Amino acid sequence: MALITIETSSDALRSGAKPSDEKAREYCAHLERGDILFIPGIPFDIPHDDLQFLLQQRQSGGAFHKNVAYRTNEDRLTGFAGENAADAERTRAIMRSYSQSATRLLSTLLAPYREDWKLDYASYRPLEEDGRDLSLHKRNDLLHTDAFPSRPTNGDRILRFFTNINPSVPRKWMTTSPFDALAQQFAGKQGGCPLPEPLGASTVQSTLRGIKQVARSVGIPITVRSPYDDFMLRFHNFLKENSDFQKNCPKDYWDFPPNTCWMVYTDMTSHAVLSGQYALEQTYIISRHAMVTPEKAPVRILEKMVGAALVS
Ligand code: SIN
Ligand code: FE
Repeated sequence: MALITIETSSDALRSGAKPSDEKAREYCAHLERGDILFIPGIPFDIPHDDLQFLLQQRQSGGAFHKNVAYRTNEDRLTGFAGENAADAERTRAIMRSYSQSATRLLSTLLAPYREDWKLDYASYRPLEEDGRDLSLHKRNDLLHTDAFPSRPTNGDRILRFFTNINPSVPRKWMTTSPFDALAQQFAGKQGGCPLPEPLGASTVQSTLRGIKQVARSVGIPITVRSPYDDFMLRFHNFLKENSDFQKNCPKDYWDFPPNTCWMVYTDMTSHAVLSGQYALEQTYIISRHAMVTPEKAPVRILEKMVGAALVS
């Protein structure tokens, strides 16, 4: 796993410079093999007053008691604890603008994906990550690959774009081997995390999935998980529960300095955040069909191990 710095300078990106088609494909291939793409700057405007507003809210015990999520497609904030409607509206506007800027940037840096992605949530992370009191499966200081319990991807990919807006302190991450190596080691009965059952292998499972799909189609808010999604969620939990792995696996450490951006496939790259405060983030769900190296996608790796389809 490596950290790859984008070659175009932030100033050039800000002025609209675009990498060549070939370079954009290369960046996608790096991400797909589990590398982190790093930008040593913020190549779009976040007005100074907006940054001050985000940073000060927390210090003054304001409206940010936890991470705030911005549901891009609904233009709606969740997790905002403040009562002041003007503050909520301002936060929403800042998040909307961040989401749009990040998306504009990625549509050139990662051009091969831009017709084939869905914007997921954006978030503002105002809490110090070091020493957060979270339940085991929610802890982000333990190495894991991402899987969303309530938003299965059916084999599509989770790409996250981060910006450290802390004016003086880096955000510190740790990573270990990417998903393909971890799956070789841990997926299967021997490894400790049983492989998914192929689609259609179990009549009980497919009947249950069918019932859930019908329930969902009539508006009952129920999550239907493919065998792939079911495995990814179990694998996320398995890694966090595995104290031997957490302690003994080989580790790389990364410092993301103030005012820098980075992006990574968090379903591929095992990661943990050790410390840092004040980051913005936008998540994209990228179609598995848009991959430039499809054989490296976790769904394909698992399907190869199982010898059958895991998504429909
Ligand atoms: C995570 O996705 O596990 C957290 C990353 C971060 O907040 O830096
Ligand atoms: Fe994560």
